[in-house]
Amino acid sequence: MNRFYIVIFALLATACQETDSEQNKSDQKMEKPQYAQDSHSFSKPNEVAATHLSLDVEVDFDNSVISGTATHRLERNGGNSVFFDIRGLTIHGVTDQDGDTLNFSITRGNKRGDGLGIALNESTAEVNINYVTSSDAAALLWLNPEQTLGKTGPFLFTQGQAILTRSWVPIQDTPALRITYDANVKVPSNLMAVMSATNPTSKNQSGIYSFRMDQPIPPYLMALAVGDLKFEEVGKRTGVYAEPAMLEKAVYEFADVEKMLIAAEDLYGPYKWDRYDILVLPPSFPFGGMENPRLTFATPTIIAGDRSLTSLIAHELAHSWSGNLVTNATWDDFWLNEGFTVYFEKRIMEALYGKDYAEMLNQLGLQDLKHTIDDLGETSPDTHLKLDLEGRDPDAGMTDIAYEKGFLFLRMLEEKVGRERFDKFLRNYFSENAFKTMTTERFIAYLGENLLSELDEKPDVHEWIFQPGIPDNFPKPNSSLFAKVDEAREAWLSGEKAASKLETKDWSTHEWLYFIRGLEGGLSISKMSELDAAFGFTETGNSEIAAAWYEHAIQSNYRKAFPAMEEFLVSVGRRKFLEPLYQKLSETDEHLKWAKEVYEKARPNYHSVSTQTIDEILKWS
Ligand code: BES
Ligand code: ZN
Repeated sequence: MNRFYIVIFALLATACQETDSEQNKSDQKMEKPQYAQDSHSFSKPNEVAATHLSLDVEVDFDNSVISGTATHRLERNGGNSVFFDIRGLTIHGVTDQDGDTLNFSITRGNKRGDGLGIALNESTAEVNINYVTSSDAAALLWLNPEQTLGKTGPFLFTQGQAILTRSWVPIQDTPALRITYDANVKVPSNLMAVMSATNPTSKNQSGIYSFRMDQPIPPYLMALAVGDLKFEEVGKRTGVYAEPAMLEKAVYEFADVEKMLIAAEDLYGPYKWDRYDILVLPPSFPFGGMENPRLTFATPTIIAGDRSLTSLIAHELAHSWSGNLVTNATWDDFWLNEGFTVYFEKRIMEALYGKDYAEMLNQLGLQDLKHTIDDLGETSPDTHLKLDLEGRDPDAGMTDIAYEKGFLFLRMLEEKVGRERFDKFLRNYFSENAFKTMTTERFIAYLGENLLSELDEKPDVHEWIFQPGIPDNFPKPNSSLFAKVDEAREAWLSGEKAASKLETKDWSTHEWLYFIRGLEGGLSISKMSELDAAFGFTETGNSEIAAAWYEHAIQSNYRKAFPAMEEFLVSVGRRKFLEPLYQKLSETDEHLKWAKEVYEKARPNYHSVSTQTIDEILKWS
């Protein structure tokens, strides 16, 4: 070979090498995290993702604001600007890691939030956003001491899901992204701060608390609560935070939580969040529970005194796998969080308390589902598992469909392949997708490859997920305990037996609930009085029973229950109870007038999640 050829050859080889390495580079780029598109966020994580947050804030109870600095570490995926979600925040300024000022601009969105865009230099690796919240931030509820149990100090809690975190932290508020965080939070020195992170177990004099969340979480799981709190251990990895006057009752109620944790791990693999604690909030909390990692936020209305409402804790605990470990990529995929969690919750309850117990829960769940489908309409797209929430508040799509239709779908799959195979499938699903996000479409592919491929007769997955209503082949719960309740109710309604003669001695909350739900609407006052005299429903300390009973009280205009109902509506802010009661009350002019008087008193005790719903029902402005 002469020299000329050698040179050409060498050049060609280098060129090929270069092309190869270019190819490698672009392959690597392809492998870079591809964050799902989320119509409810201004963020563009595929250009620049904010993957670690350091929060340094002060909680100011006098002015009902949180202020300070959010420092975001950036993963630069090619973009020259980073975009955050904000809602009602005042941005004082933005700097980079060297303290140099960065330019920012705000894009007006809608009432659910605006965009904050920050122009980056080539070397920008961090942004420090100095900000203050508005005093009516949607995530926050500020309670004065009179609105707490002990009345010893004020209380603050946050509720992030679905898209409210942006009202107290400038953040890329999409579940498509995961972040780690640390925080320094300054609070009045008589109060304790806790977060969805490592937590203190006692107060400190300085009022400054430090937190770390080292496992990546979606931003809707950032949470903070501040109040006169005390901690007590329940088990090795479990404990309770509550106001001192509530602590003992709560510890009694949640005695089985360590057992639940062990049962959960036996089912679907190791618990990945180290500790599982529960924070009992004031009754204003708008939900039953919220699965903030390491620290479930819970309503005190599940503390019935007899441990009968603890399936809610099993539910929030189950989210430590379904939701917190494998997270819905967008709010259209919400059923992946809740449907799996309801299935898992029932399995935990079955493991602890047996099949009969779980079957009661299943039947109550089916009642809820049928009710919701009646409300939404059998052909409504909102009865699909996969939703289309673009242009709407995601809160609008968060109905029992995701929970109960999602549960039935998984239960159907379990029955189809057998429990053993299904459990193995779920265990792998959680471990292979841990700390990742999941879209409905990717789940369907995963299901096809890992569970359905060997089946001769495949279930109609498409119908379950993309069609309205409940498919005909849904698994039907059948509780023998409830069959007895049906008999008792029938005997009473037909006049065969007096209420006081019914055999109700062994009934649990679930049986009572099923009994009350099954009563026909508009019972006579004398029938209502007979039940009340025999069973004391009006004055019950059980929130589920009270709420179900008050619906009948409204329909029958059973005035004797109205003072207790008023007390309930003024003190309890849990939307699940409020919505049907205010809804029923709004059906007659007389009741609507009464409801508005009650709401005037009650509204300051409610979180924005609840006032948004009730304002609409009562046409409040
Ligand atoms: N993650 C939900 C609460 C939630 C849903 C908050 C949607 C914001 C938007 C929580 O896990 C939940 O489902 N709570 C239920 C209890 C459960 C036992 C059905 C509740 O609060 O009633
Ligand atoms: Zn849930």
